[in-house]
Amino acid sequence: MISVKSLLALLLLCSCLVYGSLIDDILDAIEKAVDCGSCHALLLPLGGLALLGDSAFSGTVTAICKVLKIQDDDVCEGIIKQQGPILAHNLRHINPLGKTATKLCDSFGLCQPPAVNKYTVPFPKAAPTNPKVFVSKGGPTFQVSHFSDVHIDREYAPGSDVNCTKPICCRNYADDTAPPNKPAGPFGEHLCDTPTTLVQSMLQSIAANPNNAFSIFTGDLVEASVWLVNQTGVTKDMEIFNNEMATILKKGVYPTIGNHEAAPVNDFPRTTTKKANVQWIFDTQSKGWAKWIGASAADQVAHYSGSYSAVVSGTNLRIISINTVYWYKFNFWLYDSDDFQPDPNGIIAFVVRELQAAEDAGQRAWIIAHMPPGRQDTLNDQSNYFDQVIQRYRNTIAAQFYGHSHQDEFALAYSDYAHQSAANAVTMAYVAPSLTPRNGNPAYKVYDVDPDTYEIMDAKVYRSDLANPSFQTQPTWELYYSARATYGPLVGLNATSALTPAFWHRVTEAFAADATAFQQFNTFKNRGVFIETCGAECRDVTVCGLRALRAENNCEDSDLGLNFKKRAEKEAEVRAVHKNACGGAGLATVFSNLPNKITDEQRAAMKALLDDVALNA
Ligand SMILES: *[C@@H]1O[C@H](CO)[C@@H](O)[C@H](O)[C@H]1NC(C)=O
Ligand SMILES: *[C@@H]1O[C@H](CO)[C@@H](O)[C@H](O)[C@H]1NC(C)=O
Ligand SMILES: *[C@@H]1O[C@H](CO)[C@@H](O)[C@H](O)[C@H]1NC(C)=O
Repeated sequence: MISVKSLLALLLLCSCLVYGSLIDDILDAIEKAVDCGSCHALLLPLGGLALLGDSAFSGTVTAICKVLKIQDDDVCEGIIKQQGPILAHNLRHINPLGKTATKLCDSFGLCQPPAVNKYTVPFPKAAPTNPKVFVSKGGPTFQVSHFSDVHIDREYAPGSDVNCTKPICCRNYADDTAPPNKPAGPFGEHLCDTPTTLVQSMLQSIAANPNNAFSIFTGDLVEASVWLVNQTGVTKDMEIFNNEMATILKKGVYPTIGNHEAAPVNDFPRTTTKKANVQWIFDTQSKGWAKWIGASAADQVAHYSGSYSAVVSGTNLRIISINTVYWYKFNFWLYDSDDFQPDPNGIIAFVVRELQAAEDAGQRAWIIAHMPPGRQDTLNDQSNYFDQVIQRYRNTIAAQFYGHSHQDEFALAYSDYAHQSAANAVTMAYVAPSLTPRNGNPAYKVYDVDPDTYEIMDAKVYRSDLANPSFQTQPTWELYYSARATYGPLVGLNATSALTPAFWHRVTEAFAADATAFQQFNTFKNRGVFIETCGAECRDVTVCGLRALRAENNCEDSDLGLNFKKRAEKEAEVRAVHKNACGGAGLATVFSNLPNKITDEQRAAMKALLDDVALNA
């Protein structure tokens, strides 16, 4: 195979390096990019552009984004200024035809993920032959509240326009001077992120529950103005929210780090990356979380890329919080080298070590993280390796808790994915709905927990309905549904059983067999609004996803989510998935929305914009 260096040297020699003709090559390659091969072909001239330097690269991509009107001008400028240099750096360091490049093209929606790179996770001890059995004495349950994706917009402006052309609205944008079509109410609107009033209302509702022992927060506290975020602003946002949780909730919180806690969004460099680091996130949260998780777990946050493990005081339950953003397709720092790294930043080694400690101590464990490791936005490799960990420690793990999708859903792991059944369902991952009303009604979950087994006896969703006339004066948080009451009767759940993985598998069988039961779940997903039409085929794909905590078993095509070509029939889906992907995947969104026809006028307009860039280069 040709080495990256010689390939790039070749590029330097070729006439492509006449900047103007390089631009034409890029535009031609954009028009032709319809599949994986042509995506690799596009990376060649983009790599040539990257060799001209970060500012030439970002300036050119910004001009393309603006002239093709992929986003508003300020959004194009902001996103590319932040993320363009990362992509340029990657293109200077990877083989444009290699496997890392294929993964990058997968994040643009043009390649399918490559087959899993086989790797066997090392374990300190073999699974015990007689694992400890956790038996319920039938004592009274305690409650745990789980909230996620709060996406608090501290610049939310009541009275500003709820309908705008940017990824989030309800802000006073400089380029939107027209009187608002509909002024934003004080407690929040769909298409906007969460005002301070709404997050405080939710925290007060949780605090008012005397049975709430503690809370879980599965990340994403920053609003989705991804083209504006910076380290100073995000640090302040983290500190404010930590104080807010402490002041209002009073009881303990077990938090995690979300992809929106980075600036640029999503981009967590690996320890092997020398060019950048996000230690400021881990240091801020180490300090802010110590009061809940204790000094030694706080020390882990600072030294294990945001992950920690803590035994809940007065219990036999160990909470292991891990940073799964190192397995996230839209973390562009993962593509800065062709060297295969099975375990970026040692997250898998960390979870193994902590699960072994739990097993040795006869404890039960809950795993919590932001991104559930089974969706189509997860890298198949790390999802597969994490699945090996789940299999090994299946007796220790009582349940798992995630957020990120903004939807109320779940995912199951199996010991045999080829023969999925109630008998071989291994673990259950609860995915919390978002607080942000951007793509649903604001909601959180409350679990009833068995005090001996730490298994979940019920999962109840509380929501606040934006359509309620009193919402803009005083939101109320009402029980929306109980999983036990709604799904139990579908499968004949007995009165004393926990909601085990086997139970949830049977629920998926009920969904597959009974369209009414499935539509109930489909309505619950976004808490009664933005209900997606989901017929038989879509139902099969959804059920497949519920049975796939291991990403390679998910049935959703990559190109369902992010599609280079705005094919009309897919446009709505693309938009829905973009919104689900935590409000825009940043630069990947720009690339996945490039058109397959660029007019002569557009080419001329771009070249006019690019005169400055060429001079700088
Ligand atoms: C938002 O504004 C656009 C353009 O003015 C309009 O087409 C669209 O229907 C509006 N959407 C809502 C939800 O008001
Ligand atoms: C950083 O973001 C904050 C908002 O969170 C903003 O007020 C500030 O101007 C930004 N700083 C820079 C240098 O862009
Ligand atoms: C209900 O579940 C419990 C605990 O798993 C079990 O001991 C009991 O036999 C079950 N009862 C029925 C009627 O299935």
